[in-house]
Amino acid sequence: MGTPQAHNYIQSLKAYHTGVACQRDPDDLIRLSFNEGAFGPSPKALTAYQAANNTLHRYPEMTYFDLRQAIATHYSINPDAIICGAGSDELLMLLGRVFAGPGDEVMYSQYGFAVYPIVAKAAGATAVCVPEKDLRTDIDGFIARITPKTKMVLLANPNNPTGSYIDHGALRRLHAALPEHVLLVYDAAYAEYVTVADYEDGIALAREYKNVIMLRTFSKIHALGGLRIGWGYGDSSIIDMINRIRNPFNISTPSAHAAIAALADRDFQRHSVEHNTRWRDWLAQQLQLRNSVKVYPSVGNFLLIGLGSADRANGLMKHLAERKIQIRAMGGYQLPDHVRITVGREEEIKTLLDAMNQFLDQA
Ligand SMILES: Cc1ncc(COP(=O)(O)O)c(C=O)c1O
Repeated sequence: MGTPQAHNYIQSLKAYHTGVACQRDPDDLIRLSFNEGAFGPSPKALTAYQAANNTLHRYPEMTYFDLRQAIATHYSINPDAIICGAGSDELLMLLGRVFAGPGDEVMYSQYGFAVYPIVAKAAGATAVCVPEKDLRTDIDGFIARITPKTKMVLLANPNNPTGSYIDHGALRRLHAALPEHVLLVYDAAYAEYVTVADYEDGIALAREYKNVIMLRTFSKIHALGGLRIGWGYGDSSIIDMINRIRNPFNISTPSAHAAIAALADRDFQRHSVEHNTRWRDWLAQQLQLRNSVKVYPSVGNFLLIGLGSADRANGLMKHLAERKIQIRAMGGYQLPDHVRITVGREEEIKTLLDAMNQFLDQA
């Protein structure tokens, strides 16, 4: 008698791994490992979340109308062209199921977000990984790999974990090279942090073209990662197809209330961006003073740092862990000689820098 067998393509999948041991965090841990917003959520979001506690016995409103309306008003877009998911992760997986299958090719960048190969493989599609140059997305490499089987392109801009971005011109060049039936999934999870002028946040692209869906998340700038809310904006034909297979009640009522309040708190968002730009750039400058590390330019809320060898990267992780500072190992991205550091609060960044300097003085 056999045992139930998963599809071959599921069996060949490697589960997403955070690179962080699964354990209860000590209360005084400095957690710079998940690219979470530095300050936690807006107090207004917390109040709205708590105020929804008398609704827990009720199923959520299935179309989360108010949340879509709030997003639509905030970004001046059509609420019917918006879909929400339990994190943008859920939307990525749904897009894979809706648009790709065995025989199709799904393209993504070598050091793109680690969920992308899982999206491709979970749909039974062929994962096409485009090599990067100096840890930057290679747009010409994408264009060169378009084939009649290409079904979907997954692009994070800015990219996690490298922190790099592709500019408006390069994005438009890639889109222009895609046949109309190829879906561009433009994952702008960190868009709100970007302050450079030649960056495109994806709203206009998704409004202009039927083969683009832009993804955003409440996990980063709004620091609501624990609530799991992401959203997508694209042509209503795309949204319609995702709605057909999504879990009917995928957004909980308190989460929707918190997200609406978070969006409305523009002062909180402005402060978070100013803080991020200031302390990310300060940390990068301080680390650049050390010849033995490579700091990659970042437009997100994190920095990728090259240590030169996996031993040194592991040594640094251990040194920091002993001081209750958690950063992200990059072995899962095939970059075992690198680490990624999230921009935390000022005192956290200063404590981290002192501890890193201690390590670099010895190693
Ligand atoms: C590029 C990118 N896309 C999507 C996500 C997923 O975000 P969410 O929390 O909305 O699932 C992340 C989270 O780290 C990310 O870095």
